[in-house]
Amino acid sequence: MRIPVRLTWTSGIYLVKVKNLAGQSGLYPLVVRNGTGERCDCGSAVHMAGVQRVSGFQLIHGGTRRPPRAVRFLRAALRPTMGHGRVSTIMRLQLGCFNCPVEGWVNTDITPHILVARVPFLPAVLYRLKLLTRERYGEHQRGVFRGLKFMDVTKRFPFKNDRFEAAFSSHVLEHLYQAQARFCLGEVHRVLQPGGILRLVVPDLDRCVESYDPDKPDELCRAMYESTHPRDKNRHHWMYNETSLRRLLEGVGFRDITRRSYRTGDCPDVAIIDNRPDSLFMEAKKRG
Ligand SMILES: C[S@@+](CC[C@H](N)C(=O)[O-])C[C@H]1O[C@@H](n2cnc3c(N)ncnc32)[C@H](O)[C@@H]1O
Repeated sequence: MRIPVRLTWTSGIYLVKVKNLAGQSGLYPLVVRNGTGERCDCGSAVHMAGVQRVSGFQLIHGGTRRPPRAVRFLRAALRPTMGHGRVSTIMRLQLGCFNCPVEGWVNTDITPHILVARVPFLPAVLYRLKLLTRERYGEHQRGVFRGLKFMDVTKRFPFKNDRFEAAFSSHVLEHLYQAQARFCLGEVHRVLQPGGILRLVVPDLDRCVESYDPDKPDELCRAMYESTHPRDKNRHHWMYNETSLRRLLEGVGFRDITRRSYRTGDCPDVAIIDNRPDSLFMEAKKRG
């Protein structure tokens, strides 16, 4: 006898309640291996021809039952994937892009909007509840967050070595603690191809300090720390000028470190990828 195995079953021994065409029903131990169901070799099992219906089952030993749909959905939504779950051929990586994804790049972030964008009608519901601004809702309607990949830059990147020709990050590094920033740049170096380029954009510490007005000391602090943000990831944890950024890049192995200006440099798509003119722009290469 074979019992149709439901998609929700994984390997293990189940107790199933079945009914045949003649209306007889009985409880059967069932071994499920690799997606097939075979009757367990158990003396108490009644042989039943023509199983018509499986009306209930209970895992009694072994494998795990499939997690509930909501858990599976959350896992899938947050799993760092590329190109809608397919292996992507895109060779450019953007870190912490938020609402500035660029076509032709693997655009990543840890913003909750990635999850919101994957639940049908959720942006509209949140907007109705006044939990999304009109601007953010408009971005959801335009699909801005739909193609983003969830990737925490403080964790090992889910990519093989030497994969990307270019990496770009704008106003993200200052949101990391120093050790995290070093780790993140080490990961960027690892996933870049030999000769690959990194373009790094951060608020310029020198510029920030130059703007200091002793009559308005809070303004400098606000610019330095962005401490009014409720979420830790949106506050600043360190700041850089050209010297400190150069040292940091050298420390993780980058070469040819060059200061650039807004929308100029060797990075692909440089004319469209920058969106913050008053910043410090640096490019660096992985040894070829
Ligand atoms: C100031 S926004 C910059 C957004 C965009 N790159 C820009 O230039 O407008 C900083 C972004 O970094 C993201 N971020 C902060 N910590 C992160 C982390 N550990 N991993 C990935 N992204 C992070 C935030 O979610 C946020 O979207």
